[in-house]
Amino acid sequence: SWRMASFIDDAVKDIREQVGDSRVVLGLSGGVDSSVVAALVHRAIGDRLTCVFVNHGLLRKNEAEMVQEIFARNFSMNLCYVDASKRFLDKLAGVADPEQKRKIIGKEFIDVFAEAAREIGAPFLGQGTIYPDILESIPMDGNPAGVIKSHHNVGGLPEDLHFKLVEPLERLFKDEVRVVGRLLGLPSELIDRHPFPGPSLGVRHVGPICRDTLAMLREADAIVTDELIKADWYHKTWQTFAIFVPVKTVGIKNHQRSYDYVIAIRSINSVDAVTAQVVRLPWELLEKMSERIVHEVNGVNRVVYDITAKPPGTIEWE
Ligand code: XMP
Repeated sequence: SWRMASFIDDAVKDIREQVGDSRVVLGLSGGVDSSVVAALVHRAIGDRLTCVFVNHGLLRKNEAEMVQEIFARNFSMNLCYVDASKRFLDKLAGVADPEQKRKIIGKEFIDVFAEAAREIGAPFLGQGTIYPDILESIPMDGNPAGVIKSHHNVGGLPEDLHFKLVEPLERLFKDEVRVVGRLLGLPSELIDRHPFPGPSLGVRHVGPICRDTLAMLREADAIVTDELIKADWYHKTWQTFAIFVPVKTVGIKNHQRSYDYVIAIRSINSVDAVTAQVVRLPWELLEKMSERIVHEVNGVNRVVYDITAKPPGTIEWE
């Protein structure tokens, strides 16, 4: 980790040089990458950094409260909370295409930031872009159709946007980002959290996003995480999560015929997110998750387990 310690020194110097006396606005999602970039930029320029936490309506259960609490407690950081959930969900209504969803979420994000930044007067935008984000956004053979997924935090910026980007993590892999975060004194509850995509539950909800089906996914996801932690498996997997599948199947609930949706569970291990292996979670744990989901989540009556490696699958479903 001496290499990461000197990375921090260099990055702090570079950020100070790039930013000068200006201000930086940064989107804090509570994920590993944005938290680490926030801590790094904060070390470099202190209260000339303002973090904006956008609630886009696609957050996990209790996430908005948790992130604000952690940053208020651990840092004296300027933090501005924007509840833009209605705006995002209205824009996403009826949209099923995964790339379309990603583009809408990404564009809305930039717009919300631009508004916040205008008030803050920040010409710089900090972003937690890491190396795999860039790798996977480079068109294969120069053909744009070869893009696997348009990552939320790369490209697609509107032309009228005058932000200059501060992306100090863009040459790091995820495990290196975690080392940097630890060295900067971030708490384990942030650093050792599973990676979470920028478009959040939006790319784990297949098909058009409705508030009621999104609520089913949020509840199922909380159950999966809760049981994973209780069984002491959270830190043994890279990512484990629920996906909403907009397929209705027949089942029995409370001695009655039900016709409800499907939740998929995915659990993978990886070293750099470029490839991933399926985790063989204990059968009892999967059954427990399944029982709780069908019992506690209204509108869901079936749970399936995704056993696809990456490749050919991707980690997220969209
Ligand atoms: P995929 O689904 O491409 O995911 O195999 C690879 C890793 O990246 C995460 N991911 C994202 N992270 N913005 C991010 O910051 C995004 O738009 C995004 N999409 C996927 C995913 O969770 C996995 O760890």
